[in-house]
Amino acid sequence: MFVIAIDGPAASGKSSVSRLLARKLGCLDVNSGSFYRAATWAVLDAALPLTDESAISSFIAAMDIQCTLQEGHTVLLLNGRDPDAHLRDAAVNKNVSRISSYPDVRRVLTNLLRSLGQRDSLVMEGRDIGSVVFPETPYKFYIDASEEVRAARRYAQGETDSIARRDAQDSSRKAAPLIISEDAHVIDSSHLTLEGVVSEIIGRLKMKGLNVTL
Ligand code: CDP
Ligand code: CDP
Repeated sequence: MFVIAIDGPAASGKSSVSRLLARKLGCLDVNSGSFYRAATWAVLDAALPLTDESAISSFIAAMDIQCTLQEGHTVLLLNGRDPDAHLRDAAVNKNVSRISSYPDVRRVLTNLLRSLGQRDSLVMEGRDIGSVVFPETPYKFYIDASEEVRAARRYAQGETDSIARRDAQDSSRKAAPLIISEDAHVIDSSHLTLEGVVSEIIGRLKMKGLNVTL
């Protein structure tokens, strides 16, 4: 079993790269950001005051979170409801970094994410996968791209998303901030295609001795 950790700032290409890589390797693809987005949607839906860290932490700790696997992806149900249609709502984009900065919220989701790695080989992408969720994996990548390129990518996706603000919040928080792990392989994807990024990752995995059969 293996865990491939992919971290990086918003719109650097993590989700698209992970999806393609997981498809090529025939393993599970886990977008950890969708867990934080789902939790944020549930908090917004419950109309909790967003600055009330203790009420939000208790709410998330008490929530029934079901995570099942379907065709190589995770499917979440929060208190029996499917958050999928709301994950990229402007209100979620706006508030997800705040909710993700609360350590007790992170504890719940980190445990859930770790449990997936105990069951299956996977590619997991996010902000703290190599640094906190799976620090022991030898397969760590940090995907970057210039701020202009990332903003243009998000704009092309038609989203209202202040990525610079979110990156600043994610990098400066105390709990599991976005950092480049010392042992991560950094890829600047500004001038690379998705295929280009994925082949660089596969080359590196082979070099590190992962038995990749394609
Ligand atoms: O797709 P994008 O890179 O814009 O964001 P995402 O991966 O969907 O993550 C949304 C937000 O969730 C991030 O801005 C972080 O605040 C939070 N997040 C986190 O704190 N830790 C993770 N491992 C993944 C996401
Ligand atoms: O998950 P993250 O927010 O890091 O990025 P994404 O949602 O996977 O990618 C943002 C957009 O950039 C998508 O439309 C990708 O197709 C595009 N893109 C990329 O991710 N990487 C490249 N090398 C080129 C384009």
